[in-house]
Amino acid sequence: MIYLPLEYNNSMRKKIAAGNWKMNTTPDEGKLLVKNIISGSPSLKEHQEVYFFPPFTHIGYIAEVVGKPNFYTGAQNCSPFEKGAYTGEISTSMLKAVAATHVIIGHSERRSLFSESYESLQHKSSTVVNSGMTLVFCCGETLAERESKNQYKIVQEQLERSLLHLNKDEMQQVVVAYEPVWAIGTGKTASPAEAQDMHAFIRSLIKENYDETIAMQTSILYGGSVNAANAKELFSQPDIDGGLVGGASLKAEEFIEIIKALP
Ligand code: PGA
Repeated sequence: MIYLPLEYNNSMRKKIAAGNWKMNTTPDEGKLLVKNIISGSPSLKEHQEVYFFPPFTHIGYIAEVVGKPNFYTGAQNCSPFEKGAYTGEISTSMLKAVAATHVIIGHSERRSLFSESYESLQHKSSTVVNSGMTLVFCCGETLAERESKNQYKIVQEQLERSLLHLNKDEMQQVVVAYEPVWAIGTGKTASPAEAQDMHAFIRSLIKENYDETIAMQTSILYGGSVNAANAKELFSQPDIDGGLVGGASLKAEEFIEIIKALP
């Protein structure tokens, strides 16, 4: 199925390069990486943003060196709960206290390796937006789901069960990241046309559930083996508003090129 992009002026949307470091770097390595990226990056235009998602232990430390306009620091996960007897959990207020402004929820590694359920992700989505932070909500199908042509069904289910309960105002704090599981860390990217098609589908779902204005304002990032060589073509698709980048965000020169590829 081909989903046509909605007619709109897409210049109103934020274009974003986000680095998901996963469980990599020590705090000092992370600080050096950020310093190198910031010093090698151009000044961002008003509609462009860069997010760093280091491990929890480095957030406060990294946020101290992220002093350039439109560069932000966030967390890769958070607790759905506010405080209390939840051993090993980190709350949104703890994250805000160390200057985190964004939280990734629903990454496929958390869904598959840490058994995160639709219900838990729904709770976390609400917790993040209620805290005033920006939610980066991930969705995406596995290879088997794509091969059986169920990719639209599964992405729709992921959004309906864990994100689209948010109200219109809350949706303004949301960035969606489409990350086909088969493209994550594999060196295999969705083709720009395949990615565009799914992004247009996601935007159409947002329109159906809210309205055209919210659909047009919501940035939808592509993730899955984004690198310096493929970023420009992916980001030039009408419904792709940047990337959520894993491996290539750990190399300063590579991530700088990805930032430069933002429209
Ligand atoms: P990758 O990871 O760029 O290494 O494929 C993307 C992600 O998991 O967010």
